[in-house]
Amino acid sequence: MLDILERPRRNRINPTIRGLVRETTLSTERFIYPLFLHAHDGKIPITSMPGCFRHDCKSLFEEIEAARQVGVNAIVLFPAIDDGLKTAGAEEAWNPNGLIPQTIKALKDKWPDLVVLTDVALDPYSSAGHDGLVDENGYVMNDETVEALCKQALCQAAAGADIISPSDMMDGRVGAIRSALDQDTYTNVGILSYTAKYASAFYGPFREALDSAPRGGTKESYQMDPANSREAVRELELDISEGADMVMVKPAGPYLDIIRRFREQTELPIAAYQVSGEYAMLKAASANGWLDEKKVVLESLTAIRRAGADMILTYFARQVGEWLNTSA
Ligand code: PBG
Repeated sequence: MLDILERPRRNRINPTIRGLVRETTLSTERFIYPLFLHAHDGKIPITSMPGCFRHDCKSLFEEIEAARQVGVNAIVLFPAIDDGLKTAGAEEAWNPNGLIPQTIKALKDKWPDLVVLTDVALDPYSSAGHDGLVDENGYVMNDETVEALCKQALCQAAAGADIISPSDMMDGRVGAIRSALDQDTYTNVGILSYTAKYASAFYGPFREALDSAPRGGTKESYQMDPANSREAVRELELDISEGADMVMVKPAGPYLDIIRRFREQTELPIAAYQVSGEYAMLKAASANGWLDEKKVVLESLTAIRRAGADMILTYFARQVGEWLNTSA
């Protein structure tokens, strides 16, 4: 025998010992399940996101019922809005009779304990397909947009949303939404800010799912440059000072270093969004038999938690819940 004092492999000898020393675990209480919906009858498959659908009311409820059965009790809703309702001013975003507020009310009637998050951004409602209001030069205007986002957030809170999630990356929106909520009666409605949201090509399948791609220009004048990390910390400091309850890094897998930086920088809970493109990659490779789906999905989510995320927005939420419930 070699004279080796430290043998780390002793802690890996069998599954029970490995379980005892495991530093990171997955559980469904850490998942937020993103769901797409539309105002028509029928459940439409999203080609680039196999297993995901544009739900109608009935299939949305069925999907949530199934997710709750495996312990997933937090969802975030994304609407596909008819072209005819999209305008330059995105007014449908705060229509109290719109798809999102009506759906929130129905969900909360059925399941008062379901935690409903909403996306605050104008892209599903804007004829330009941008997260904010666009001026004559194609520039997304900041302060005018923040006003619109406050109306959208209030409409969602009035419908019963638990947590408002601004994903637009305008300056000052967290503080403005916080004070709009507080001036009304919504002091208990939380804000999960998309703090470091990058101008990522990994959102491609999501834009197909909602038909919400920008009709001109890019989102680079408001979403962050993938090359930057210090700038994410600056955004984090601002969101904390403006009253965010939770902060987010998006995408997740390619940005684990940003999640780790946030973990070292704040005591606030951190969310990470495993976005549509990350989902599509894992699904496509698995469908080809090139990767073992269950193993890579669990590994990818474990890595996001290990980097420092408390919670994960993932399209795999229900599926992982089913795996975790059957592997016990
Ligand atoms: C829109 C929004 C996007 C996503 C969440 N909210 C797309 C974008 O910014 O263009 C992407 C989610 C995903 O890709 O899964 N404000």
